Amino acid sequence: MPQHELILLKNMMQPGYTGSLVDYEKTGGYQALRKTLGKIAPADVTAMVRKSGLRGRGGAGFPTGVKWGFLPKDYQGPRYLCCNADESEPGTFKDRQLMERDPHQVLEGIVLSCYAIGAETAFIYIRGEMVLGAKILEHAIAEARAAGYIGKNILGTGIHADVWVHRGAGAYICGEETALLESLEGKRGLPRIKPPFPATHGLYNKPTVVNNVETLANVPHIMNRGPEWFAAIGSPPKSTGTRVFCVSGHVKRPGNYEVPMGITIRELVYEHAGGMRSDKPLKAIIPGGASAPFFTPAHLDVKLDFEHVALAGSMLGSGGVTVMEEGTSMVWAALRLMEFFYHESCGKCSPCREGSSWLVQTLRRILAKRGHMEDLETLLDLCKNIAGRTVCAFGDAEVAPIQSTLKYWRQEYVDLIHEAEAVNLIKLEPAGRH
Ligand SMILES: Cc1cc2nc3c(=O)[nH]c(=O)nc-3n(C[C@H](O)[C@H](O)[C@H](O)COP(=O)(O)O)c2cc1C
Repeated sequence: MPQHELILLKNMMQPGYTGSLVDYEKTGGYQALRKTLGKIAPADVTAMVRKSGLRGRGGAGFPTGVKWGFLPKDYQGPRYLCCNADESEPGTFKDRQLMERDPHQVLEGIVLSCYAIGAETAFIYIRGEMVLGAKILEHAIAEARAAGYIGKNILGTGIHADVWVHRGAGAYICGEETALLESLEGKRGLPRIKPPFPATHGLYNKPTVVNNVETLANVPHIMNRGPEWFAAIGSPPKSTGTRVFCVSGHVKRPGNYEVPMGITIRELVYEHAGGMRSDKPLKAIIPGGASAPFFTPAHLDVKLDFEHVALAGSMLGSGGVTVMEEGTSMVWAALRLMEFFYHESCGKCSPCREGSSWLVQTLRRILAKRGHMEDLETLLDLCKNIAGRTVCAFGDAEVAPIQSTLKYWRQEYVDLIHEAEAVNLIKLEPAGRH
């Protein structure tokens, strides 16, 4: 396996590392905070993060320093940081590991980011099912508060930043940043129409930054080792740093792998995750969570960075890499994902609310061998009328499995429909002719 330096998973890979404050401090934890607070101007911290090239790890890959720079400079009232720990994308489980195994790394990133954007309050919006993660974070916050790293007058600098954990109720849509804000405000988690963007009208209508757990966990390292160091890792200039890929499915060693951006899918699957679990060859890969279009074995040499995955027709998304072996029914795989999206559609926009139900019904009909060739056109037409026509990107996400499986494995749909036609023909044959 190729050797490279781990950044985010480094501490937790050390034998005996517990993630406690004492352990974190022994590895140099909270040194970035000591070096930065009151010593480097907040605008310069933002400039350093911009220079590092760090891009969001939650899905859209927006440049983090640029996002921070959108906050109004002269606004006098409160502003907020929200750490997006909802992580509900199927096949994605990195934020959970970062929070459970090294919570202070995330907290240090949160406090540094609060300082950069001038926020005195941060919320960690954690997926409801992650009970253990929420408990661990609560404990770590208490430890950090007692040690003077969180709260009022941090390390005697006169700078304040408090951090609160807010548990969601387990809705996928609450990972979408504006639905997250609605939910935090105590309302039903429905996405907001943008603009205005959270940078100016976010939580309680105040300037707000929403960043993913992994994004924020990178910040202490950028402050400790400098933006140039970070910018040289991975696939500069557009995909810098490492990425924690969550490999699941039919591989020998599923799990989280932190690798420099730009390694190929082949290296990730065959070298890190140990290759296929049986002698069946690889058939399909989802490179960036359930919302990302499928890839085929022809894409094994695509580099896992923002640019190359997008050029090849998919997206790096949440970093969830799901591998499927030969023998997997792609129509069935599309239906499983579609059932998830149908269940999770928040109902705000009719194309998504109604369309997801029709997509599921049509796929179920095809799999039950009651499909017709016209169903394929219906599926594509539905996808066309959902994508880009909803308030949030959920609509684009839910059509990805269908459009991409129809693109690469259309014959599997056709075969099921032909089987259906054969079954119907037999049923229609008049009695006595067999
Ligand atoms: C339906 C939907 C679900 C999302 N779920 C998550 C999530 O669970 N975690 C996350 O960090 N971002 C999620 N996002 C992306 C967020 O809206 C937002 O872009 C992200 O939190 C910004 O942080 P980043 O810039 O650090 O990536 C989701 C987006 C959509 C449209």
